[in-house]
Amino acid sequence: MPASRLNLRHGPIEVGYVRPGMGEEMVTTTRDGEVCIVRLQREAKLNALSEQMAAQLIAAFGSGDVTGSRVVVLAGSAKAFSAGADLTEFTDPSPEETIRYYRGPGRIWELLPELPQPSIAAISGWAIGGGLELALSADLRVADETARFGLPEVSLGILPSAGGMSRLVRLLGTARAKQLILLGERFDAARALELGVVNRVVPEGEAETAALEWAQKLAEQPQAALQITRELIDRSAEMSLAGSLAAERLAQGMLAHSADSYRADR
Ligand code: COA
Repeated sequence: MPASRLNLRHGPIEVGYVRPGMGEEMVTTTRDGEVCIVRLQREAKLNALSEQMAAQLIAAFGSGDVTGSRVVVLAGSAKAFSAGADLTEFTDPSPEETIRYYRGPGRIWELLPELPQPSIAAISGWAIGGGLELALSADLRVADETARFGLPEVSLGILPSAGGMSRLVRLLGTARAKQLILLGERFDAARALELGVVNRVVPEGEAETAALEWAQKLAEQPQAALQITRELIDRSAEMSLAGSLAAERLAQGMLAHSADSYRADR
């Protein structure tokens, strides 16, 4: 279908390109040694992920602060990691628009997995819908006691299509994923830990400090081993056992000869 016949909600956004846009600064990056903190800071709207904010997030992930770091921590504010997609921008998109969305602003849910370095989500307050899906796209999740989670999409007549369904199934298994997605109930940090949605729960206000602590440890690991093992863990879930075993042994052979290997001291 010619582009002119599509009523494209997302205007001139092209595949592989999103305009950062001007105006309010909703995303910042800070370097702390080898660690980069990417912060969502649209607190008045509980970090609802508007298209402008998504464009800023995409730009942040392309910045030197992120590309030059060894570990990325994605943090929100005290009240919210993120309350999900910006509901004021919800329309009635056509199938073409939906696909175009996920190739444009909706790429934010693929940014962390596509990085070569590991990532940690530091969660305080609300992590709802697309906000929880963003946290699920990180390698590890640290929440404080104020964190509240939920996937309300099915109750809105849609589904968690920003990776929430696919990632939760892989993380928790089908029974627990169905429970959280189909019932759409909110749950707290203790329950998130029990289910395996988060890796660690810390006292109120300490999520970022705890995430930075882990990030520092990751930054100190031999980097080739860290990055290759992280990638193989992700790929392993989609491979046969025989294929995965072969891959880990091939990688072992390669890493044993890397500059960081214990063998390098010999
Ligand atoms: N999109 C756009 N704006 C949002 C938003 C979202 N997803 N979530 C919160 N906001 C805005 C509110 O409209 C409000 O703005 P206002 O002060 O200008 O009126 C502000 O953020 C604070 O939200 P509020 O609802 O007053 O906070 P709360 O503490 O009472 O409730 C939530 C928090 C998360 C339970 C509630 O905001 C909510 O249900 N949000 C929508 C979650 C959602 O459905 N996400 C999308 C899933 S697909």
